[in-house]
Amino acid sequence: MTRHFLRDDDLSPAEQSAVLALAAQMKADPLAAKPLAGPKAVGVIFDKNSTRTRFSFEVGIVQLGGHAVVVDGTTTQMGRDESLADTGRVLSRFVDAIVWRTFGQDRLDDLAAYSTAPVVNALSDSFHPCQVLADLQTIIEHKGRAAGLTITYLGDAANNMANSLMLGCAVAGMHVRVSGPEGFRPDADIVAQAQQQAEATGGSVRVIDDPAEAAGGADVLVTDTWVSMGQEDDGLDRVGPFRPYQINSDLLGHAADGAIVLHCLPAHRGEEITDEVIDGPASVVFDEAENRLHAQKALLTWLLENQ
Ligand code: CP
Ligand code: NVA
Repeated sequence: MTRHFLRDDDLSPAEQSAVLALAAQMKADPLAAKPLAGPKAVGVIFDKNSTRTRFSFEVGIVQLGGHAVVVDGTTTQMGRDESLADTGRVLSRFVDAIVWRTFGQDRLDDLAAYSTAPVVNALSDSFHPCQVLADLQTIIEHKGRAAGLTITYLGDAANNMANSLMLGCAVAGMHVRVSGPEGFRPDADIVAQAQQQAEATGGSVRVIDDPAEAAGGADVLVTDTWVSMGQEDDGLDRVGPFRPYQINSDLLGHAADGAIVLHCLPAHRGEEITDEVIDGPASVVFDEAENRLHAQKALLTWLLENQ
């Protein structure tokens, strides 16, 4: 069975910990390991916009000694409805891994079912697991550990980042709180799956409606856009109900002393986060962005070694 990384709980706690340790090593010595020397090729496909994911994967694959084939999915035959089964079978014969940013999680599942090369989710409507590996690396760098700390996600608690933070941080043994307005709260199944992970790691997962209560005493505050890619025209009010969930100085004041603030970026300053916070001393968002590079290099290396 080919190992893929389609959602955060595709790595066990020990495996996630190994990837994060490797990510720290790779950050300390970025050109030391060349597992893609040959060069081996990695397909990196985007059906949605990207800045960080595109640059970090392409640069990371080069640093690992490999070659990245970066394409806009709509310009391939996938964009003309070639089946994902045929695409998976064909791409596996050319590349050693496939990294894909797309819409439905089912599309990743379908491709992975037919790919003998590992498939990595570079963001879907449901999950953004590469981002959460980078988030965990950043938390460990700044707080010395992840397990046992409390992380609070505020904002659109029904989106891909909320889902991935619940799963990935539960795997890491964190206490996860998610807080968003009515209509934008997480799917009960994902919460239950994350709680199941947390039971095994000593963490916990709670949905807390009140933002100040959710932020109270937290070691990490995190937010994301209120309008994810593909939701621009969904007809929902994606500003008004979210206002109380903005990370601003008041809300940050409820968190623990020395709390850090994460945001996967791109940020919509003045909406989900204020300038004062994102540019202030608690913010580690640019370390977080850089860690996409190191965490993804570690993930690709681990996947290639564990097939
Ligand atoms: N955080 C993130 O995935 O950014 P991009 O959309 O720019 O890749
Ligand atoms: N939730 C956001 C994340 C962007 C990196 C989106 O899907 O657009």
